[in-house]
Amino acid sequence: MLTQTNAQVSQKPAETPVSDIAPAYRERYRPQFHFTSPRNWINDPNGLVHYKGEYHLFYQHNPFGDKWGHMSWGHAVSKDLLHWQHLPVAIPENPAGFMIFSGTVVVDSENTSGLSNSKNPSDKSCLVAVYTAHSGSEKPQKQHLAYSNDRGRTWTQYARNPVLDVAKKDFRDPKIFRYHNRWIMVVALPTEHKVSFYESADLLKWTYLSDFGPEGKTDEIWECPDLYELPVEGHANGLKKWVLQLSTQSSMQYFTGDFDGKTFRNDNPKETILRLDYGPDMYAAITYNNPPDNRRISLGWMNSWQYPDGPTSPWRGAMTIPRTHTLQSFPEGIRLIQKPIVELNALRTNMLSMKNTTLEQVNAMIRERRIRSKTVEIIVELEPKSAADIGLLVRKSNSEETRVGFQTADSTLFVDRTKSGDVAFNPKFPGRYSTKLAPVNGRIKLRILVDWSSVEVFGNDGLKALTCLVFPQPDSDGIELYADKSNVKVFSLDIWELQSVWKTHSKAATSAGKKPKAK
Ligand code: FRU
Repeated sequence: MLTQTNAQVSQKPAETPVSDIAPAYRERYRPQFHFTSPRNWINDPNGLVHYKGEYHLFYQHNPFGDKWGHMSWGHAVSKDLLHWQHLPVAIPENPAGFMIFSGTVVVDSENTSGLSNSKNPSDKSCLVAVYTAHSGSEKPQKQHLAYSNDRGRTWTQYARNPVLDVAKKDFRDPKIFRYHNRWIMVVALPTEHKVSFYESADLLKWTYLSDFGPEGKTDEIWECPDLYELPVEGHANGLKKWVLQLSTQSSMQYFTGDFDGKTFRNDNPKETILRLDYGPDMYAAITYNNPPDNRRISLGWMNSWQYPDGPTSPWRGAMTIPRTHTLQSFPEGIRLIQKPIVELNALRTNMLSMKNTTLEQVNAMIRERRIRSKTVEIIVELEPKSAADIGLLVRKSNSEETRVGFQTADSTLFVDRTKSGDVAFNPKFPGRYSTKLAPVNGRIKLRILVDWSSVEVFGNDGLKALTCLVFPQPDSDGIELYADKSNVKVFSLDIWELQSVWKTHSKAATSAGKKPKAK
């Protein structure tokens, strides 16, 4: 995002805030089970936190237009991470001349900050946000604090901001978590390909601990770091590892290793690059603080800085499906496993379920039952053995298709969107994206989520993920299996239609242009 962050801080909004009339959430390309703001630009998820029964989603937002600018924190809440209630802008661009860049929210349950106004001895908590204040490309990026005593509805700026300033132009996107009765912050030094760690007793005064990097992918800037510990599944001795994940301009990477409260040590050689997602459209993902059930849940921005201004209106930008993160041990090392949250299953309506069959029989059944949809989940287990190229076509019509395929010769899973629909809006958009995926017992398993403008693919139970935007015509809603040989074995196939999460929310208040209540 170098070019955008280098832009001057906005002058006065050129556009008038759009009106409050809620859109119907049925416009062409409008995601039906992914989060979008009612209108205008969004990018990174910010301040992901669960508090008093609600998942909060703050996000980078321009309340005044559908291009990046006037960065503010938009806000929505949800009980299941799928059905969202839109709330007014939580933290608007500051009239003193800085934008509100990405950051974190923590539950200060012990009132370590002294910023809670609670009179209740059994609940002293308040919410504390720490975000990057961006005043212009030549000015230092500083970490500022704001707090809320009304469940995130209104925010007060801390009187002694900034809470952290190291006089660097590129120093942003803090993520804070609780560790052994202290607060730890991980924050990016984007152009140095490093992250820094700080600690604090009260969220107000921060002490430097260490840096990590450059390691892994270092040819693009580092942004939006996150650090968390997970058990390694299936490990006899209850092994736990730390995951450090971050965004690198056109993709995301993670490291596994150890964090001792001061430094992070990478398990792998410096040169090893582990990618979070092999598609082009998952960026700036971070995970929830304080989840109610210890799940590690992430959300990412489903778009790319390579071609951010896609053909959508009146909104621009969406979030990925929320994913749970776990770790598993493989011969090649410990790897991050990402799966769509189980809550998604509640949206399913069964369309087709077949076992021990062939590709031709599946296609015959799809035709016979006229199975087609723009919002589907497909889980399929295939035996690629006899064929060189095998897979599925989704969002298909006579002229359009998105290909989710597997090439046996080099064990490659790929998504090809070159014929997916409108690909002409930016020359960088059309493409084919791939990753290695080794068959297990001769089988590959694909889980595919298709929405009105996206295709997310999870290979072999979440070992590999590929997230791709697509912009097909509304009548490109066909589904078909393909192979270059006949009688390919299909061990199992399930197709569900996924219900829209927005239909009961058509009267949702928009976040656009609303001012938070007086503090
Ligand atoms: C990542 C990013 C962050 C920054 C924000 C600005 O996409 O560049 O580094 O805080 O977007 O909108």
